[in-house]
Amino acid sequence: MCMQKIDGKLVAEKVLSECKEQIAELKGKGITPGLSVVLIGEDPASMVYVGSKARKCEELGIFSHKIVMPTESTQEEVMAVVEELNNDPAIHGILVQSPPPAHIDEEAIVRAINPAKDVDGFHPENVAKLVLEDPTGYVPCTPAGCMRLLKEAGIETSGAEAVVIGRSMIVGKPMALLLMGKAGNATVTIAHSRTKDLAAVCRRADIVIAAIGKPEFVTADMVKDGATVIDVGINRVKDASKKSGYKLVGDVAFDEVAPKCKAITSVPGGVGPMTIAMLMQNTIQAAKFANG
Ligand code: GUN
Repeated sequence: MCMQKIDGKLVAEKVLSECKEQIAELKGKGITPGLSVVLIGEDPASMVYVGSKARKCEELGIFSHKIVMPTESTQEEVMAVVEELNNDPAIHGILVQSPPPAHIDEEAIVRAINPAKDVDGFHPENVAKLVLEDPTGYVPCTPAGCMRLLKEAGIETSGAEAVVIGRSMIVGKPMALLLMGKAGNATVTIAHSRTKDLAAVCRRADIVIAAIGKPEFVTADMVKDGATVIDVGINRVKDASKKSGYKLVGDVAFDEVAPKCKAITSVPGGVGPMTIAMLMQNTIQAAKFANG
């Protein structure tokens, strides 16, 4: 079988060039989209993600505002920052990087963000709009990116059996809703750590979305011939041969799974670049909403 490696960098570039056109149009009307990214603490992976998000904004001409708060910040201090950003007309999108330190109530922070500025799509109002398929809501960036990858790769989702492995609010649940809804029209199963005979459930799938957060969890025996596999995982595993001492692997054992697939994404170079591209798109959407 001729396997298609879906190039997330290439598709992300296409999304970003669409973003550039929209930003130019907004700037012509005197509007500069603005995104504020809040990082609490010094989680190394989060620091990398936040840095990439800010850099991408600058590249595109989106006003980028990065706020780094110490690990010991209190709930009240974080809430006060969110409130200030809610009231700042130059900021159209607010993102508080997850996960925050353990003493912070993340759900309360998400609920405090003005839903019109919630470019992550995590606020209950935006979750409800996703369920209702109301286009005035924000779709979470990673699952939105996966849908775009499937579309650009020419993968038919309508009528397909899709299995989403993982039930997080950031990926698994919204992913299942998108695949099931009008944009996907797939028959969707959500599998997770308690699923009985997870391998047998996955083998039914025409489309597997791996978002369980376990390195190389999906092995060849779990994937049927000709399936499409989208790997959302970003796991750091030790690798003495690397200067940094670690390497990034996905939730899929790529080398053994890829030969069975019709199409597959890699880690890195798959879903990762799409998440940032979709965040840029959501920020532009926020700037458009704010200006009627
Ligand atoms: N941490 C990992 N992915 C995400 C994301 O999409 N948004 C936020 N806020 N935090 C994350």
